[in-house]
Amino acid sequence: MDSKQEIKERIEWLRNVIERENHRYYVLNDPEIDDREYDRMIDELKRLESAHPEFYDPSSPTLRVGSDIVSGFEQRPHRYPMLSLSNTYGREELLEFDSRVRRLSGVTPRYVCELKFDGTAISLTYENGLLTGALTRGDGVVGDDVTANVRTIRSIPLRLHGDYPPMFEIRGEIIMPHASFERLNRQREDIGEPPFANPRNAAAGTLKQQSSQVVAERGLDSYLYYIAGDDLGFDSHYEALTRCRDWGFKVSEHMRRFDSIEEVLDYITYWDTERKKLPYDIDGMVVKLDDLAGQRRMGFTAKAPKWAVAYKFKAERVSTTLLSIDYQVGRTGAVTPVANLEPVRLAGTVVKRASLHNADQIAILDIRIGDTVYVEKGGEIIPKVVGVDVSARGEGSVPLVYVDRCPVCGTPLIRPEGEARHYCPNTEGCRPQQVGRIIHFVSRDAMNIEGLGDELVEALYDNDMVHDYADLYALSRHSIASLDRMGERSADNVVTAIENSRDMPLGKLLFALGIRFVGSTTAMRLADAFGSVDALAAASYDELLATHDVGDKVAMSIRRFFDSAHNRAIIERLRNAGVSMTAQKRERLSDILAGKTIVISGTFTHHTREEYKKMIEDHGGKNGSSISGKTSWVLAGDNMGPAKLKKAEQLGVDIMDEERFLQVIGG
Ligand code: IVH
Repeated sequence: MDSKQEIKERIEWLRNVIERENHRYYVLNDPEIDDREYDRMIDELKRLESAHPEFYDPSSPTLRVGSDIVSGFEQRPHRYPMLSLSNTYGREELLEFDSRVRRLSGVTPRYVCELKFDGTAISLTYENGLLTGALTRGDGVVGDDVTANVRTIRSIPLRLHGDYPPMFEIRGEIIMPHASFERLNRQREDIGEPPFANPRNAAAGTLKQQSSQVVAERGLDSYLYYIAGDDLGFDSHYEALTRCRDWGFKVSEHMRRFDSIEEVLDYITYWDTERKKLPYDIDGMVVKLDDLAGQRRMGFTAKAPKWAVAYKFKAERVSTTLLSIDYQVGRTGAVTPVANLEPVRLAGTVVKRASLHNADQIAILDIRIGDTVYVEKGGEIIPKVVGVDVSARGEGSVPLVYVDRCPVCGTPLIRPEGEARHYCPNTEGCRPQQVGRIIHFVSRDAMNIEGLGDELVEALYDNDMVHDYADLYALSRHSIASLDRMGERSADNVVTAIENSRDMPLGKLLFALGIRFVGSTTAMRLADAFGSVDALAAASYDELLATHDVGDKVAMSIRRFFDSAHNRAIIERLRNAGVSMTAQKRERLSDILAGKTIVISGTFTHHTREEYKKMIEDHGGKNGSSISGKTSWVLAGDNMGPAKLKKAEQLGVDIMDEERFLQVIGG
């Protein structure tokens, strides 16, 4: 091809035709071009783009294959908070919603009824018809910027058509259809990775993938259900979404508008059974007041719009026979009963095991071996036994006797006051507890010793090579390599990883020790407050209690841990093995912000929020999470929320912009 101008026009023509076809294929389900022709156009466009990088455009359909650039996610504030929905579960509650709407909206309501997609929420920003940003919900106020990943989802338009507003946000759900989900899990099992529990987790996990190339391959889809912006000029939600469809968005064809709540109820009943035929998961229906002026009059609570509710379908329930009960012992010695069931199909999978919670639950339900039990799968991954069909009970059935000895080591179980669970007190001699503690010690958020998987830990334990985590530091390459299926190379890597873990930060070590009730955040606080294992071990109950985040339960547990001669001996062995027992002094750049609590709000140009947070700490200040009487300053970027601004003004808190802040810290 010839002149630059012609090449440019050809590129633009190809981009338009391909995007139009993407829309027909992925949104309308009505392709116009056959696959071969489509591939040929993609090839031609790729060729032209790589020969003419001057015509680069981030919205080009060729970039939907993603890139393998690995990046963390920047956090950004939502222009409008991302809210949730209040739930209703039955006809009565829905009628109450209807009467609230009639009372408060000032209109005779029409309702829009939509599917409640079971995926992960997304907020998309379009400026002048181009997709410019995509944020996850995050905490509702700030979300992760996953724009690069979202660009690979074929049903999300990169460029709009028609007469769209110059700037708006549109929200919806990223879902993983069953077909993609099953394919993905097959692939994961092939390579020995754990499968995702359900399509919702798979969609959320995929969106947080570091490589957008991986995202592109996983077959995500989207449905949009809410548009927000200033002066969009609509009167009705239904009409707004219908227009969104015209601009290229995927809006569900199952959205309906009704004149009465009775019709809404009929439509919900219809979907309660029909949903099983959908190629993706829904977990309920959403009912919204159609009239936007009415919506504005009703407004929002802190968490959800008052003009909409979700109707949650009842969890699917089946009955089957309880064959036996296993008692599992965890790292803390807690005993968990697990039901073995006659295999039964439930919500698309075959269920053989289900959770039984604890001894009380079993007693209250009077569950017996051989009983016909009801099993439910709610939002959670593991199905649970929720009841017994007593009428189906045969003669000779006897009440269940809960175990009173540890099923692994035979020690009599104890049940601490006020706790629902039984514990095996043999902490120092019971295999699952000992192995569990070592597995916890090496885990990612603890000492992060890579290459030491659960199976290897078990093998080391069963071959008498480690009894507790301090023994890890005495392992040699030679001894590890002597185990079945361990090569010299992997043994080498494990030994190196163990060696490198000696210098882990104090907070990680404190978490790794496995003190009950000390999670990773508390461990970090303890490290900050005490500065060394010895100082923590010497702290009295009262001193512990005076620490931020530490209450009675945690303080007692820490004391109990360090009062044990066994634990103190292990700590001595860790010390002798060269494990660092003190906090590395963090380089303080200055104390200029000492005593100041600073709240960050808005978006910034010179540095990211994370960088500002670090600067505050590096100069001796504290980061505050919300504006209060204790706040010294608000570091405000662009788009600080009006509510925050008002609060700061009311409390007389000083507001500074980033330039002034940088001046203050001398940077
Ligand atoms: S409307 C202000 N519509 O369910 C607008 N949400 O449990 C609030 N969801 O946060 C959302 N399908 O992530 C709306 N048709 C639908 C939905 C829907 C799924 C999700 C959404 C929401 C969550 C609440």
